[in-house]
Amino acid sequence: MIGRLNHVAIVVPDLAAAAALYRDTLGAKVSAPVDMPKHGVTTVFVELPNTKIELLHPLGQDSPVAGFLARNPSGGMHHVCYEVEDILAARDKLKAAGARVLGDGQPKIGAHDKPVLFLHPKDFCGTLVEIEQA
Ligand code: CO
Repeated sequence: MIGRLNHVAIVVPDLAAAAALYRDTLGAKVSAPVDMPKHGVTTVFVELPNTKIELLHPLGQDSPVAGFLARNPSGGMHHVCYEVEDILAARDKLKAAGARVLGDGQPKIGAHDKPVLFLHPKDFCGTLVEIEQA
């Protein structure tokens, strides 16, 4: 059911330092920081030949990644995002299999203007999983 790995998201305490690390030390193509007020994050997109890395830093009050950064002050992997063809069909199949879908279960428009859902990390090997309709 899942397709390509769309991105891996990493929460970082210092976005400029993380961007420099990926650009200068790892030699990757990185974007300028992009504020996403609706999502409560500032993001730097790292483009790799086969997928993306998203460096996330809290933006504003009630950022969904603020608590994660408080628990992981050096930063850490936050979620992986897999593409699916039909997000509602995927959701229903996952729920039927007993997986917990976070929030109200309705897809939200994600950082790439596509519908996304998040799945409970306890149901997926301790990893927060995002599914995105590609
Ligand atoms: Co994501």
